[in-house]
Amino acid sequence: MKTQVAIIGAGPSGLLLGQLLAKQGIDNIILERVTGDYVLGRIRAGILEQGFADLVREAGVAERMDAEGEVHDGFDIASEGKRVRIDLKGLTGGKTVVCYGQVEITQDLMLAREAAGLQTFYEANDVQPQDVKTDAPSLTFEYQGESYRLECDYIAGCDGFHGVSRQTIPEEVRTEYERVYPFGWLGLLSDTPPAHSELIYCKHERGFALASMRSETRSRYYLQVPLADKVEDWSDDAFWAELKKRLPQDIAENLVTGPSLEKSIAPLRSFVCEPMQYGRLFLVGDAAHIVPPTGAKGLNLAASDVATLYKIMTRVYQQNDPDCISQYSDIALRRVWNGERFSWWMSNMLHNFGQMETGDMDAATFKRFMDSELGYFLGSENGRRVIAEQYVGLPYEELTD
Ligand code: APR
Ligand code: PHB
Repeated sequence: MKTQVAIIGAGPSGLLLGQLLAKQGIDNIILERVTGDYVLGRIRAGILEQGFADLVREAGVAERMDAEGEVHDGFDIASEGKRVRIDLKGLTGGKTVVCYGQVEITQDLMLAREAAGLQTFYEANDVQPQDVKTDAPSLTFEYQGESYRLECDYIAGCDGFHGVSRQTIPEEVRTEYERVYPFGWLGLLSDTPPAHSELIYCKHERGFALASMRSETRSRYYLQVPLADKVEDWSDDAFWAELKKRLPQDIAENLVTGPSLEKSIAPLRSFVCEPMQYGRLFLVGDAAHIVPPTGAKGLNLAASDVATLYKIMTRVYQQNDPDCISQYSDIALRRVWNGERFSWWMSNMLHNFGQMETGDMDAATFKRFMDSELGYFLGSENGRRVIAEQYVGLPYEELTD
């Protein structure tokens, strides 16, 4: 079996890359470990930067996103009983974000891929990148009990944090940067109208909370919880009661509750692997980096990696310029670190770190610094602009000649 770009993973990164490459006539095959339904069962975030939305349009898969996605001009940050609006549109010269679930994007991309007749092997086992430092890399894998080899020019490792791609880069070549946070987010999805027309990020003594949404009739809420908590510890009633304590009073009073469609706990982590390229293997999205969800950057950083690799592959094949692949890692990492810093900063300002050690200062001192930091940035238009321009997304970097 042969293709030009072999893609590992049918998450948003792999599917979006595959669709964009196909538009440029670049042949690609995706190998995915689980079934399509399993991929779609994972509830993830839902805030798309304009750059991401434009990329989905360029891929020709934007019809439902443009029809059903809600454009958000701003969001609120609540603390000490006050709500401060971050006017994204006003503060950034007209930029906004689109509220549209990652599951929906993934589904749209899967359907488009199927309709275009592009090949995807779901339930491909033991996918292994081979000879990535040579001119003839390949992927070996098992499919329906048979062994296969997929020969290719390049490999895109879009296989998420637990994938095989990152491990293919030898340890002595790879540097990993990490911060783990001393709490997780418990998420609840329900068919209830959202608490507010825009998202509300809530800083509270009892812990952080987020009121988000998927549509006019579907809400997504999160609570900061101790890492030791299990989903089974949290009945729906307990979740709603705790959420009401953390939301601003006017919002809590009008909150519509209902049975959960899904509840899960996710740990918070900042993680970056450098470099993001090794020979003919590229790491894309969660395979190379993880952010805490506080800045809504996970999916959007995956999209900027895809945009960069797409431009590179287009130049490789259309201008016969294979040397440009060496630009990938530096360009991708510059934007990744900006997103990492923003997500880390927002997480620090908005969560309650309790009695945890926070480096070389005690928890009470750290808390004072973070309370002051948030107050300062929310209290000035320039401060709010700093938040807004990062939330809508920094520009994508172009390749150099
Ligand atoms: N072989 C084949 N497929 C694999 C392998 C493997 N060894 N390991 C993982 N995969 C698949 C997973 O099953 C998953 O479907 O790769 C896919 C990776 O998808 P994601 O984890 O969603 O990662 P990515 O596509 O980079 O998406 C970016 O943005 O909002 C964030 O974390 C969120 O998933 C989101 C991410
Ligand atoms: C979500 O709706 O799931 C969501 C939105 C914004 C975030 C994180 C998660 O920052």
